Amino acid sequence: MLTDALEASKSNSLISQYSEMLGKAILRQRALIAERAARVEAELANKVKSEFIANMSHELRTPLNTIIGFSKLLSEHQHRRLKDENIVEYANLIQDAASHLLSIINDILDISKIQSGKYALDRQELSIEEVLRATLSGFRLAAEEAGVQLEYAIEPSLQLIPGDAVKIRQVISNLISNAIKFTHEGGKVTVEAFRLADGSVAVRVRDTGIGMSEDEIRIALTPFGQVDGTRSRWREGTGLGLPIAKALVELHGGRLDIRSVKNEGTEVTITLPGNHHLAMAEARETALGTRL
Ligand SMILES: Nc1ncnc2c1ncn2[C@@H]1O[C@H](COP(=O)(O)OP(=O)(O)O)[C@@H](O)[C@H]1O
Ligand SMILES: [Mg+2]
Repeated sequence: MLTDALEASKSNSLISQYSEMLGKAILRQRALIAERAARVEAELANKVKSEFIANMSHELRTPLNTIIGFSKLLSEHQHRRLKDENIVEYANLIQDAASHLLSIINDILDISKIQSGKYALDRQELSIEEVLRATLSGFRLAAEEAGVQLEYAIEPSLQLIPGDAVKIRQVISNLISNAIKFTHEGGKVTVEAFRLADGSVAVRVRDTGIGMSEDEIRIALTPFGQVDGTRSRWREGTGLGLPIAKALVELHGGRLDIRSVKNEGTEVTITLPGNHHLAMAEARETALGTRL
């Protein structure tokens, strides 16, 4: 009897020793994993930061050099007469470069406003169909020049939704511009808008372009992150478009989802809540500002 009790207490204490050891091992392992994850995050942040500085200097310098170079040529007009058509051409180049600079600066201001939670939406009843038609017509020429087919399918009589038309247009423009930018000549970009069962409206931009891996999608959604952040990358940009687009959609109480297959294409879907989600979206609005 006594030996049984002794045996039982011995095995109990062994079990508790083992479980303590196991517990400690699990904790050690968890700490190790957390440490590794933090290191990877920090390395990624550092990489993004230094690539950002290199890209940004390049992004700012290119249009500035255009402005300085061509305005210098114009200012020498009295010494070296320029043809009328050259004057117009140089003035247009200066105007393009200056607008590009302005859009970069606006992006930087947008992202910092969003990050500090100070971004305000001007919410009204908006027609996704109208926003889409206006946005698409602005991209016809760019698509043609890139040799990319631009198609759209908008579900008839989509309901109005609460939203900021200027910001939603900014989001959709960005997605279409990316789709055209990262699709080779001969490819296709399709824009669809449709209603979901819960009363939300979805806009999907699909392309047959270069695509992204899961890791690349993560980088693309990081502010200033660009998948191929080296100077030799084949398309210009600041890497702010997607993070801003995602934040703007989330401020509306919606979502932005990316599905992509390398060398096959990308599909970005934004979902915007209908009227009955408005109260919820407004409640989240204040909270979201600081999340980026
Ligand atoms: N449709 C797409 N197909 C492939 N890559 C894309 C697509 N959209 C975005 N990306 C990748 O994500 C990066 C970030 O996009 P974005 O934030 O719009 O910045 P930017 O257009 O200024 O480079 C791009 O540089 C590109 O590498
Ligand atoms: Mg972009």
